[in-house]
Amino acid sequence: MTEKIIALSKLVEQGIHQFELPIKPNNLYDPLRYFMTLGGKRIRPVLSLMGAKLFNAPAENVLHVSIGVELFHNFTLIHDDIMDAAPLRRAKETVHSKWNENIAILSGDVLMVKAYEEICKQKPEDLPELLTLFNRTAIEVCEGQQMDMDFEERDDVSITEYIEMIRLKTSVLLGCSLEMGAIVAKANKADREKLYSFGQELGIAFQIKDDILDLYGDPKKFGKQIGGDVMANKKTLLYLLAREAANKDQMDQFDALEKDIDSTRKVATVRALFDELGVQEKAKSTMELHRKNAMKSLNEINVPEEQKTDLRELADYLMNREN
Ligand code: IPE
Ligand code: IPE
Ligand code: MG
Ligand code: MG
Ligand code: MG
Repeated sequence: MTEKIIALSKLVEQGIHQFELPIKPNNLYDPLRYFMTLGGKRIRPVLSLMGAKLFNAPAENVLHVSIGVELFHNFTLIHDDIMDAAPLRRAKETVHSKWNENIAILSGDVLMVKAYEEICKQKPEDLPELLTLFNRTAIEVCEGQQMDMDFEERDDVSITEYIEMIRLKTSVLLGCSLEMGAIVAKANKADREKLYSFGQELGIAFQIKDDILDLYGDPKKFGKQIGGDVMANKKTLLYLLAREAANKDQMDQFDALEKDIDSTRKVATVRALFDELGVQEKAKSTMELHRKNAMKSLNEINVPEEQKTDLRELADYLMNREN
């Protein structure tokens, strides 16, 4: 991370630190305290701060939005971990593993409401636009998550469908975080749209990177269970590219592996097949394509070039991250 990103994420961390939650019932609030202090990259709130700064608004003006998007993101993660049966998050136990699924559902719900509460602390004049965008985004994230789960049961998912699924489950929140910053900064509509497109394309690249790390990441650095996507039969870009390139024998192997209940063997065999088919490199080229699209949108925004440096650095960091 660059110094600028660290400085902005510290601002976010302070805001989260000051965030107060009741004590009782413990089983509702302890998981939230636990989860919110596990860290995480805090990318979405940093994007809101950068979105405002891009158009010359001070970071303080957008602080509630930025905390709000992080709370919302954490809510989606707590529920996502139930859906994906994930044991690890940010190198610690997931909420449903440490407590139980019902507790994870309910504490996630509270976090979502808290996200709204926080965003509603912004200036009343900005709320109609902020909430319209945020509401649309929140529903789209659920649509993407549903597609992600539906795809687990299908073996005819196309790459176009996959891109649409990750656009919804992941990218729109990055676009929304940035644009909410721009709304507070009173940027014009055309620039706001370009900033949203930047976030959306960057988000697609970001999720492809996440898919790659899920299988090829360093277990000591990644903080999530390696191979989780393979275990859950997720239709990641790696998997779709592999099926596209597979011969009959390899295709049969993939079909058989879907049902393999020995997860260690399954992950190792799928990874070996992916390596044979060279899919990691292909996925990286698709990621690069979307990163370039993002940069094109950023270039078109009508502000002095030097004001875009932070966003360029953040994009670089996201593409090279290890967690
Ligand atoms: C994880 O998001 C969920 C995805 C959309 C891939 P992050 O990678 O931003 O997770 P944290 O907040 O840093 O833990
Ligand atoms: C999650 O995608 C997207 C959302 C949480 C909305 P993943 O399921 O790939 O995210 P990780 O890998 O668990 O962080
Ligand atoms: Mg997951
Ligand atoms: Mg998921
Ligand atoms: Mg993932």
